[in-house]
Amino acid sequence: MEQVEETLAGKTNRCYRLRQRPTGRVTSADLELVEETVPELADGQALVRNLYLSLDPSNRIWMSEMRSYLPPVPLGEVMRAIGIGQIVASRREDFPVGALVMGFSGFQEYAVLDDATDLTPYTRLPEPTPAPLPMFLGALGHTGITAYLGMHDIGRPEPGETVFVSAAAGAVGSVAGQIAKARGARVVGLAGSPDKCAHVVEALGFDECVNYKDPAWRELLAAAVPDGVDVNFENVGGPIMDEVLLHLNIGARVVLSGMISQYEASSGTSTWAGQQSIGQLIMQRASMTGFLVLDHAERFPEAIEYLAGLLSEGRMRSDETIVEGIENVVGAINQLFEGTSTGKLLLHVGDPELAVPTG
Ligand SMILES: NC(=O)c1ccc[n+]([C@@H]2O[C@H](COP(=O)([O-])OP(=O)(O)OC[C@H]3O[C@@H](n4cnc5c(N)ncnc54)[C@H](OP(=O)(O)O)[C@@H]3O)[C@@H](O)[C@H]2O)c1
Repeated sequence: MEQVEETLAGKTNRCYRLRQRPTGRVTSADLELVEETVPELADGQALVRNLYLSLDPSNRIWMSEMRSYLPPVPLGEVMRAIGIGQIVASRREDFPVGALVMGFSGFQEYAVLDDATDLTPYTRLPEPTPAPLPMFLGALGHTGITAYLGMHDIGRPEPGETVFVSAAAGAVGSVAGQIAKARGARVVGLAGSPDKCAHVVEALGFDECVNYKDPAWRELLAAAVPDGVDVNFENVGGPIMDEVLLHLNIGARVVLSGMISQYEASSGTSTWAGQQSIGQLIMQRASMTGFLVLDHAERFPEAIEYLAGLLSEGRMRSDETIVEGIENVVGAINQLFEGTSTGKLLLHVGDPELAVPTG
């Protein structure tokens, strides 16, 4: 079984190694871009050339020593990241040269696919791909599926209920809000600028959006939810979540998707004193449920079918912010914390160069 298309061993791989744990924003001293040589493949391995890399708030968690669902990336290792790539050399039949794959391929140009060391097995994308590749890391990928699982399994909004979504212009929030609209709810978003709020209402179809950088944001939030909040799809945590909890209705569901405002806290830059309004869960007989998309691989086909249906019916749009070039990983990660991306944030590393197998 010799499927090596071309000898890539010895070719240069630009990759990011984690040198130290960041404090606050990520710097090039934390993530060092180095040039290494692509290794010779052993039996059972394939070589993935990355095409798109996903920038996720979780990247920042994995750089820290925060107790998490995955171990911290050890210092000196290639930084963990999800990506889409093309097999360019192979010593296994199930991943032929040309196949498009998704997996934990890391912040680098080339990754060695190897079941013995991969965090989770790579999956092959459908061939031919029914949607543009970036969508498989966004609306039809792990962020869209997070929104689907959180909204359908935990939030379960009924027509007429009020759903509040934080980080509403982002990858998860934008899809979560559009699903809630499709279920007939009244949907209020929260985002960090007037432009983003306009996008959330005019392009994504939310009913209202609160700019949390407006000094009067607490009053604006109260005015936007006159009938209270039945579902809080929480992506941000901290004082914003505290304020939303003060508006919960009896029997409300808090979908705890993420708390991005706290992911840099290990740096000692946080002055926030902890969630103050958790007691509202008791007062309002409400529930709060955390969940992780990675736990539900068996639900991905169902989620993708639903999300693809909304897209094809014109009831959902998919937004992406695409940063060019492997050399721009550090600045791109920080965009998530600076609020300078809209929709799914991706890094474009290359385009497919080999014919995709049809069988
Ligand atoms: N549970 C799961 O399985 C799962 C899976 C994927 C993601 N998540 C979580 O979902 C959330 C969103 O992730 P994403 O990938 O979709 O990122 P994203 O929303 O596309 O990007 C992050 C956004 O968060 C906002 N933000 C950053 N710092 C903030 C702060 N201190 N206060 C308020 N807003 C802040 C920014 O938007 P503004 O301009 O509006 O500030 C930024 O654009 C994260 O908490 C992430 O951890 C959970």
